[in-house]
Amino acid sequence: MKILVINGPNLNMLGIREPDIYGKNTYNDLCKLITDYAKNKGLEVEIYQSNHEGDLVDEIQAAYKSFDGIVINPAAYTHTSVAILDAVKSVGLPTVEVHISAVETREDFRQVSFVRQACIKTITGLGFDGYLRAIDTLIENGKN
Ligand code: DQA
Repeated sequence: MKILVINGPNLNMLGIREPDIYGKNTYNDLCKLITDYAKNKGLEVEIYQSNHEGDLVDEIQAAYKSFDGIVINPAAYTHTSVAILDAVKSVGLPTVEVHISAVETREDFRQVSFVRQACIKTITGLGFDGYLRAIDTLIENGKN
């Protein structure tokens, strides 16, 4: 099984940005956590981060026929991007939405998620572990 993990804007700043919300661990720590977990589970994983909406759309499109599932944290684009929603719908791959923070307890503008309607599950508020639970969800989904 081959999984693509996509991270949106400012997630490269993890460890520096708002550590009270996102924690003190860095983006590299997150990548290592995901890579080690995937290795343990015998999965292939690729991790991609961009601050640019169109690049995220390109990456989702490129996953068509080359990945079995997507884990996506679109970050701020969660709340604004119809393009990312349409890209996920276009490729038709099982996709899990992840947020490090508990977005449901935060500002009103974070209560909207465009991508959610194309996702098989949404995981929030578990910190970096949310990505691992998203991978578990794709594994379980692949068994059906
Ligand atoms: C986030 C939540 C978003 O509202 C925010 O814009 C982010 C990160 C999260 O992982 O908690 O950049 O997606």
